[in-house]
This record gives sequence, C-alpha cells and structure tokens, in this order.
Amino acid sequence: MLRRLLSRRARAEPPTPPAQSTGQLDNPELEAIVGGIVARGDWHDGRVRLVVEVGTGGGEGSTVAIHRPLTAADCSFELIGYEGDAGLAAQAARHWSDDGDVRVVNEYFMHREDLDRAVKPHIAPDDRDVYLPEFEAVAAKENFLATTPPGPIDLLLIDSVRYTHLAILRAAAPWLRPETVVVMEDDIPGYGELAIVETELELRDVVRHELEAHPWPVVEFRLGS
Ligand SMILES: C[S@@+](CC[C@H](N)C(=O)[O-])C[C@H]1O[C@@H](n2cnc3c(N)ncnc32)[C@H](O)[C@@H]1O
Repeated sequence: MLRRLLSRRARAEPPTPPAQSTGQLDNPELEAIVGGIVARGDWHDGRVRLVVEVGTGGGEGSTVAIHRPLTAADCSFELIGYEGDAGLAAQAARHWSDDGDVRVVNEYFMHREDLDRAVKPHIAPDDRDVYLPEFEAVAAKENFLATTPPGPIDLLLIDSVRYTHLAILRAAAPWLRPETVVVMEDDIPGYGELAIVETELELRDVVRHELEAHPWPVVEFRLGS
C-alpha cells in the first residue's frame, strides 16, 4: 500500500548531536524492520542478497541490528558496511573479521563534489556552525567511494551523519533498482532527511517508523514513481 506519511507529529525535540556522533543503533525495532523486509521480499530463493550499510561506525550498532535478522532468516547475503572514519572502520573490521558474510570498507560512500551540491545547501541555519566545519574536514579526506558495490543493492541502510543522506543516495544511484529498499534515520527535528531527499528524488512506498528506544524515526522507501 502506498503510504506517504509526510506530516510531522509533534515530538519533544532532542538536542542537536555533535556531527561526529557515533550513537549506536543496535535497536530491536530496527532489527524488526529489517526482518520484515526480508520476510516480505521472500529472500529465501537462493539468490545472494546485497545489503549495503552506510555509516557502520564501530560495527557494533546498526550492523548488528541488520545482521541478526539476516542470519535468523537463514538467507544468503553479503553485507558491506561503509565507514569513512579510519579508526571506526578498523574497529568494525576487527569486530566482523571472523564473519565471511560481512565486509567493512573504509570509504565515505559519497562523491566529494556532492558535499557542495547536495549537503551544505541543506544545512539548517541553526546547524551551520556545527556542521559546516565538519563537512570542510570531510572534504579534505581522500577516501571517497572507490570500492563500488558488486551488483544491484537489495537493501540500503543509511545511518550516517545528518545532511549526508541525499549525497549518499546520489552516489548509490547506479546500484539502486525499483525494488531496492532504502531504510534511513530521519533525524532533523522539524525538518528531516526525508524532506531533503524529496527535494530531488521521487519516492514511493514511504513508511515512517517511530522507534520507542531511539530519539529519531526511521523511514523506509523505494525510489521511483
Ligand atoms: C551515527 S554514526 C554511525 C553509528 C553506527 N551505525 C552504529 O549504530 O553504531 C555515523 C557514522 O557515519 C559515518 N559517515 C558519515 N557519512 C558517511 C558516508 N557518506 N559514508 C560512510 N560513512 C559515513 C561517520 O564517520 C560516523 O561514524
């Protein structure tokens, strides 16, 4: 069923987190969302599903919440976690080193030029002092997307830094299909990553999940009209 839940429920606004926040998202509700996607998509046909996570952090948060339902469903999958920060990526790589289904890539899953085109223009006035220096620092890095996904993405989960989601979707475009499911945090109170993404992309099957144990909702959608 097509659901476009664009109205914003009044919520207590959580404080703006620091741009480099590594808040872990090993959340049972996120786990249930991924489990539902696997069940609805009938991921048991033997085909290896490609799951890409952007913003893996130290690998012990959202990656665990994604990995658990994939394993429980006993489907074939490859989970690639992209993490731009070298220290966190190394930590995540160590954590998952014994799991052949999981690979950690120390790259920013976006293109440098999109920081100017699709990230900075959307920063809310109150956030500019915090986030502009953060993105200037990222722009000076060398590890932007080079290790490309090995095929079409079945599930793309974005748990990155505020304002980067549109740039990530731009970078992912060659591997997105009409059936690809995107799940992302919608973490700008009263504004929203979803609203920013919708300035440029046509979305369908939009579902907004309010999480009890997390300050921000998660949105799920597919691309295309
Ligand atoms: C909120 S933290 C991730 C927390 C992690 N998912 C967890 O549950 O533990 C956001 C992370 O996204 C990373 N990041 C931001 N933009 C990124 C991008 N385009 N590609 C890869 N990593 C990115 C940051 O370095 C940061 O470690």
